[in-house]
Amino acid sequence: MNQYKSNIFRNDKPYPSYSYLSSNKSLMSLEAVNKILSSKSKNLFKEIVGNEVDELLYHMGQQGTGFVNAVFSSTKRTKFIENDFLNKKGMHILRCLLSKELTDHNRNMTGLSQDPNFQSFNKNGYLKLENFLDEEEFEFLRSQIVNPSFKKSSPHDAIKYKISENKKFQNIISMANGFHITYPHFDSYDYIMVHEPHKTKDLHIDIFFPTIKFWLYLEDIDISKGPLHYVPGSHDDTKENKLRWLYETSLVASQPSHPLHKKRKFTHKDNAFRLCIGGDNKTELNSLGFNMEIPMVGKKNTLVIIDVNGFHRRGDAADGTIRRSIRGFVREDPFKLANEELMCYINGRS
Ligand SMILES: [Fe+2]
Repeated sequence: MNQYKSNIFRNDKPYPSYSYLSSNKSLMSLEAVNKILSSKSKNLFKEIVGNEVDELLYHMGQQGTGFVNAVFSSTKRTKFIENDFLNKKGMHILRCLLSKELTDHNRNMTGLSQDPNFQSFNKNGYLKLENFLDEEEFEFLRSQIVNPSFKKSSPHDAIKYKISENKKFQNIISMANGFHITYPHFDSYDYIMVHEPHKTKDLHIDIFFPTIKFWLYLEDIDISKGPLHYVPGSHDDTKENKLRWLYETSLVASQPSHPLHKKRKFTHKDNAFRLCIGGDNKTELNSLGFNMEIPMVGKKNTLVIIDVNGFHRRGDAADGTIRRSIRGFVREDPFKLANEELMCYINGRS
């Protein structure tokens, strides 16, 4: 069984954004996996899959270093890895568990879990913070963006840096993200126009690891604007029912003829897992132990942050409805958190 130790894989690409990671390598290995995963996760894994994590790692090692590197990475291409045999052995849910626990360890090591909003975010997978910016700063941003000449002449980067340099914003984004970040990616500065129908109206998860998106509302967003809906607590992959759902979905995702395939997996293009497309969401959510989704309505200057590894969707709105907000996201590879410093921290705790 030890032969896969020779397949210990490293990712020599430097981690660009964070000084404490910049000179380190990814240290994923059997030993690391065993250290990172809690015994609760290992037991849950075995109960759901039927075999030990070690057995899966052995078979993964047989596929070679390139394959293993791909499994422990999070590019668009590797969002879901189609391999019926290894997914049956639990490969997809191992990726889910590992990335979550790496993020949790890092949040503890760096003190980000001391943030006063951490408990709420950790429990629910979302935060809704009213009156987030000082009134003056918010009004400056809003007036810049709603100015009719904004798109043509205003320096978008100035808006971006203005909010990114706000310490309160940096702290809350870092806490939710699980590691320190200064400049998240902003993908929308002014408004979103709703077009019907749209595939993001199905409850879905974007990806298999903790990842955040955020919105700063530039106007009051009520239910008629079709705001984001979120299922509280559905971000936590260590919950047994969610993990079972992920396992079941990973088994049908590469089988187009399976009755569940069309309901759970939308297209090969986005590889996002959907919850019961065209079916009864309430029944399926209840069976997973979750309450119904809640709409993220809020006044202007509300900051909404969600973990998109939880079930979410866009709300209903008339075609052409406009929602004004600044929207952004952070999506970094969680496996790169397995650096020497973190492994020393984990070793010190065990
Ligand atoms: Fe999404």
